[in-house]
Amino acid sequence: MSGCETQCEVEIKVAQDRFFLAGVMGWPVMHSRSPMLHNYWLEKHALAGRYVPLGVKPEGLEAALKALAPLGFSGCNLTLPHKQMAMAMVDSLDEAARNIGATNCIVVGEDGRIEGRNYDGFGYIACVLEARPDWRADAGPIVVVGAGGGSRAVVWSLMDKGAREIRLVNRTFERAAALASDFGGPVKAFPWDERHDALQGAAMLVNTTSQGMAKQPALDIRLDKLPLSALVSDIIYIPLETPLLATARARGNQTVNGLGMLLNQARPAFKAWFGVMPEVTPDLRAAIEATL
Ligand code: ATR
Repeated sequence: MSGCETQCEVEIKVAQDRFFLAGVMGWPVMHSRSPMLHNYWLEKHALAGRYVPLGVKPEGLEAALKALAPLGFSGCNLTLPHKQMAMAMVDSLDEAARNIGATNCIVVGEDGRIEGRNYDGFGYIACVLEARPDWRADAGPIVVVGAGGGSRAVVWSLMDKGAREIRLVNRTFERAAALASDFGGPVKAFPWDERHDALQGAAMLVNTTSQGMAKQPALDIRLDKLPLSALVSDIIYIPLETPLLATARARGNQTVNGLGMLLNQARPAFKAWFGVMPEVTPDLRAAIEATL
């Protein structure tokens, strides 16, 4: 058999049994858990493919996004700082990305057009429901601390699920006020000094700030006014239990850490690229936890 025949054979095989490709674009991308997550599911569902880390500098983002279709990629995830920058570089945006103001998932259509989606909000709600299956967004006031990108995804997802009162507190009041004015409806901004009192009668508390992350000080908030029935969640996953969650757990509140948000945002992305909705199983969670 000549070399050409061998190559033709390979091309026919690839055309028949699609080899799926996706990846994560970031700079730097070394710490991303996404390759482990998606490659675990590709193997589990016996799909031929690979999810790869793609070190793309901000100045190369537009060219890299345009190259996805010709390279045969089904899509990719985006990490900071690309999540916001890519908004202006895609052919269309889904409702979540438009509202949140960031895209964490690019899907390449059959016609090669690229859509920016945002599954962070989906991931957040899914992880809360994992912890408390009967949770409802309209069960009572929700206090959200922080007004950055993470907060926008959390607040939008809570509103999407029907939250009736969201008390937003942020160190820089103007950022909370701007977010409240963008989202309107149930979102009200409160000054930083009022964060302890804002917990009165709350059904839920969410930390979206960087406070409590490894190497950062704990979030400075007193929980004495927070009802014991309230759910306390943090979108941080390193460490798995932040000082806020440890304090809340010790006084009797149910807590949810941020790992579930990371794991669950990946599910609809995998479905969009590879056609199968995967599950977050205990063994997958344990494998990821072992890397933290
Ligand atoms: P991300 O996109 O990851 O949410 P970000 O936009 O930098 O990141 O937002 C970080 C959040 O942590 C902000 O709400 C920030 O408050 P400011 O808007 O006042 O900067 C909050 N944050 C950071 N350091 C803080 C601190 N020492 N005390 C309280 N909040 C802090």
